[in-house]
Amino acid sequence: MKYFQGANFMTEWEKKVKNKKLKVGVLGLGYVGLPLVREFTSSGFTVTGFDIDSNKIDILNSGKSIIKHIPHQQVKAMRDSGRFTATTDMSKIRGVDSVIVCVPTPLTANREPDMQYIIKSTETISKYLQKGQLISLESTTYPGTTREVMIPILEKSGLKAGRDFHAAFSPEREDPGNKHFTTKTIPKVVGGLTKRCREMACSMYNAAIDKVVPVNSLEAAEATKILENVYRCINIAMVNELKMVFDRMGIDVWEVIEAAKTKPFGFQPFYPGPGLGGHCIPIDPFYLTWKARQYGMATRFIELAGEINTNMPHYVIHKVMEALNEKKKSLKGSKALVLGLAYKKDIDDLRESPSIELIELLRAKGAAVDYNDPYIPRTHKQREHDLKMTSRKLTGKMLAGYDCVLISTDHSSYDYQWIVDNSQLVVDTRNATAGVKRGREKIVKA
Ligand SMILES: NC(=O)c1ccc[n+]([C@@H]2O[C@H](COP(=O)([O-])OP(=O)(O)OC[C@H]3O[C@@H](n4cnc5c(N)ncnc54)[C@H](O)[C@@H]3O)[C@@H](O)[C@H]2O)c1
Repeated sequence: MKYFQGANFMTEWEKKVKNKKLKVGVLGLGYVGLPLVREFTSSGFTVTGFDIDSNKIDILNSGKSIIKHIPHQQVKAMRDSGRFTATTDMSKIRGVDSVIVCVPTPLTANREPDMQYIIKSTETISKYLQKGQLISLESTTYPGTTREVMIPILEKSGLKAGRDFHAAFSPEREDPGNKHFTTKTIPKVVGGLTKRCREMACSMYNAAIDKVVPVNSLEAAEATKILENVYRCINIAMVNELKMVFDRMGIDVWEVIEAAKTKPFGFQPFYPGPGLGGHCIPIDPFYLTWKARQYGMATRFIELAGEINTNMPHYVIHKVMEALNEKKKSLKGSKALVLGLAYKKDIDDLRESPSIELIELLRAKGAAVDYNDPYIPRTHKQREHDLKMTSRKLTGKMLAGYDCVLISTDHSSYDYQWIVDNSQLVVDTRNATAGVKRGREKIVKA
């Protein structure tokens, strides 16, 4: 691969971008990596997808999807175009112009950043790194990761960042299941190690994403994503707290939010729920907390929000116990059905889902628990949980057999009137039954 140096360098890169000759690599083909592959492939680029999961690679190469909201036809179209290959062979990194890194960034058991995926994938890239390549990290992480963690590992190759290879950070803002925005239409924030790194990354992303927003440093780009997630985390905690306070006062928080959001300025609605779920909101803010400690700073808003949000499943279980108590029943020995396992509606992702904790808490109190989720036929082993459950088929008769039906995820495909009609008691954590007309006396909001 031959690159011009100095002033001509950008010209060569841009020419490749313009002529769709830039060979794009995406490393980590999950909820973030796969949609990105789709955007670059459909924009005419040849994309190589890298992952260590050979099962995933086989499925993708057979033209099938691994994610519910990316239909099989889209992966098939990507494959049929001849411009998308997926591989576990990392030596093929040598043959691409850019590597966009989309690996997981979870927390350790001690709620500290678990950097193993970023470190391991960067070590792999370093092994095959070529002059002129652009490495762009998209995983959500604390400010400083690209400069302090990634670049030193990449430089072990003997190549120098900003001179021999280029480094950028561009946070992924994927929102699975969002019907209004896709990877293509969500503006992309880009920071570079040098001005040239940033320009190269901007020109690459510009070719596939509608709008690119350059910022002045890697750290500003990293912090942007953290700000967005902290903002959500804190606002959700606030409405969760208000839900509990208003409930005690006999006020319905959902009715209040509907009324408040008619204000045309200065208010954005957030909705309470059974707790926080997903790969991002419950986790990412603690990346900042960890980093802030190095600066002798506390992130009190984040800690408080975390405390409130992690308490929500306990609050829900308390409401379930109260509701059963009204019926002269105890939770111990009751049969409970949890509706929805995914962390939010209409998706198939159960990472960090509060439903998991609800099931564990119900079991710990002696209830017999089943679940239904149209998108998750069975549970699989996760790092901290192994429920070993399969989704129960919903019928009127089976619903009637449960002492309590607990709505944890408000999937759109559920017929809530039918659920209430057939259940003895419905505890609703999402206001999913708002439109239900008959049998409201059976519903308890939690
Ligand atoms: N899921 C979302 O909605 C979302 C939204 C915004 C940002 N993010 C962030 O994006 C990042 C990725 O999240 P995700 O949801 O796509 O995760 P994911 O678990 O769905 O996908 C990650 C993929 O990386 C692969 N992988 C792990 N280590 C690897 C290695 N060393 N080499 C190659 N592949 C490797 C895994 O096999 C997996 O397929 C995280 O930092 C997350 O916080 C996620």
